[in-house]
Order: sequence, then C-alpha cells, then structure tokens
Amino acid sequence: MKVNLPNEPVNGPNHSVVSEFVFLGLSNSWETQIFLFCFSCLFYVSSLAGNLLIVVTVTSDRYLHSPMYFLLANLSVIDLIFGSIAAPKMIYDLFRKQKVISFGGCVAQIFFSHAVGGTEMVLLIAMAFDRYVAICKPLHYLTIMSPRRCILILVGAWTIGLLHSSAQLAFVVNLPFCGPNVLDSFYCDLPRLIRLACTDTYKLESMVAADSGLISLGAFFLLVLSYVFLLATLQKHSSGGSAKALSTLSAHVTVVVLFFGPLIFFYVWPSPSTHLDKFLAVFDAVLTPFLNPVIYTFRNREMKVAMRRVFSLLLGVRKIT
Ligand SMILES: *[C@@H]1O[C@H](CO)[C@@H](O)[C@H](O)[C@H]1NC(C)=O
Repeated sequence: MKVNLPNEPVNGPNHSVVSEFVFLGLSNSWETQIFLFCFSCLFYVSSLAGNLLIVVTVTSDRYLHSPMYFLLANLSVIDLIFGSIAAPKMIYDLFRKQKVISFGGCVAQIFFSHAVGGTEMVLLIAMAFDRYVAICKPLHYLTIMSPRRCILILVGAWTIGLLHSSAQLAFVVNLPFCGPNVLDSFYCDLPRLIRLACTDTYKLESMVAADSGLISLGAFFLLVLSYVFLLATLQKHSSGGSAKALSTLSAHVTVVVLFFGPLIFFYVWPSPSTHLDKFLAVFDAVLTPFLNPVIYTFRNREMKVAMRRVFSLLLGVRKIT
C-alpha cells in the first residue's frame, strides 16, 4: 500500500494522504475469476456492438427518423459511455494481484457514473413522456415532440446529469483521506469512498443516500406511475393497434425496472458490503447497458427490419426485402 505523499499537509502534519485506492475485487477463487472474465468480456463487447448497431441503424435509416427512435439512439450513446466507465478496468484488473486506482481515477469514475446515470434517468422520463404524447395525444405528436423540443430535452438531460454529479462530488473532494485505502469492490462508488474518509462521515453518508436515493426512488415511482397510467389508458381504448403499443410499453417498463432496481438497492438499502451487493454491481456495470438494446430490438419489428436493411447495405447486398 502506497499511502504517503509528504507534500500535502491537508489535515495537519501527522496525517498522510491517500493517493490511490486498492480494490479487493470480486473473488479470489480461480474458477470464479475465469467465469467473471468470460461473462464480463462477453457482455461488455456485446453491449458495445448492440448499442453501436442501434445508433447506426437509427441515424442511417430514414424510416426510423422519429422522436422515439432518436431518444432510443441517445439512450444507446449513454449506455455506451456508462458501460465503459467501470467494465474495462474491472476486466483488466481481474487477474492482477494488486488492483489499484489513483485518487483522480476514482473521482473520475464517480463523476462520470453519476453524470451519465443522472442523464439516463432524465432520458427515461423523457421517453415515458414521449409515449404519453403518442398514446394520449396522437394527433399532436409531431408538434409536441418537435425536433427543437427533442434537442432541448437532451440538453436538459445532460445539464441535470452534470449538475447532479458535480453536487455529489463537491461533498467529496475536500474530504481528508488518510488511513485505510481498501475498497471492497471493483470500482469506485460514492458510499464506499465516503466511508474511507478519516472524519465523521455520518452526515455526509445520509446526504448522499438522500440525494442519490431520493432522486432514483422519485424518478422510479414517477416512471412506474406514468406507465401504469398509460397501460390503463390503452386498456380502455383497446383496439388492433394497441398490441404494438403494449409491447413497446412493456419494453420500456422492463428497462426502467432493470435500471433502477440495483440503484435503489445501493443507495436506499443500508447495506454493508455483502456478496449480493457486489454481484449486483457487476450486473449494473455490464448487464444493464447490454440489456437495453436486446430488449428494444428483439421486441420491436420496425427496428429489426431496419437493422436488416442496414446490414444489407453494409454487405453491399442489392436485394432488399
Ligand atoms: C439524439 O437526439 C437528437 C434530437 O432528437 C437527434 O438529433 C440525434 O440524432 C440523436 N442522436 C443519435 C445518436 O441518434
């Protein structure tokens, strides 16, 4: 453990300053490590490929130039970034004895995961709003979800994400870290980092739990309620077209539950680091960004047809069915 940095007298002469953190990783058993390696590589690479495919398909296929698909492609961009925050380092670290990350690297991981996570939350809410307009005000859909408003929504989402993340980090950057520097995890997360500070962190921990926890709980209930409302509306006016709307809605609900489930567990449960906690973290880091494209594409005929068109274009096949 390299802990000493002599030239930073942040908290008095007797304290050393932590310059890097050590991850305990997930497991020391050889079989588990090999399993985790294959599992993470497989899902990380597939999520990169799947999300890229969605972005390419939506931007290149003019049949998909509608607000819903633009938002979906933007969600894929966010998933590409989100998946790349923790997974590459985790995979790289799996077989290394000493898994270390610099203080700056740790702060960067936290900053980007909160910024991107916050943005994704706002985007999921925007997608629910988009479905609300499509189902309840179909005649005004294209005027309400105008290109200008879509861009406004995106700018708003990124602004909120970045503000939320900066606010969280503002609590942390000035904390004194002088003692233990071992994180029982494979990436930096805010609750674990705060517990390492050598000061009374009780208030700070509650503040972070309140901030991240309340935001995710609030967004989750807002989304669930709006989808329940939409499903009820569909049920009332059930006709031929509603089967498709129903399958789109259930895809959205699945993504919402998969995205918020682990988050709420992390921030709202007062859990010490248990095994379940860590495996849920792997799930969050590699599986969630992978599941979005799977859920949206396998359940969506238009998307599948468009992907086939993109593939035939890429492969130079003339005959397009
Ligand atoms: C994101 O959304 C905006 C606004 O609708 C759209 O112009 C842009 O093409 C989208 N980005 C991607 C990668 O599809």
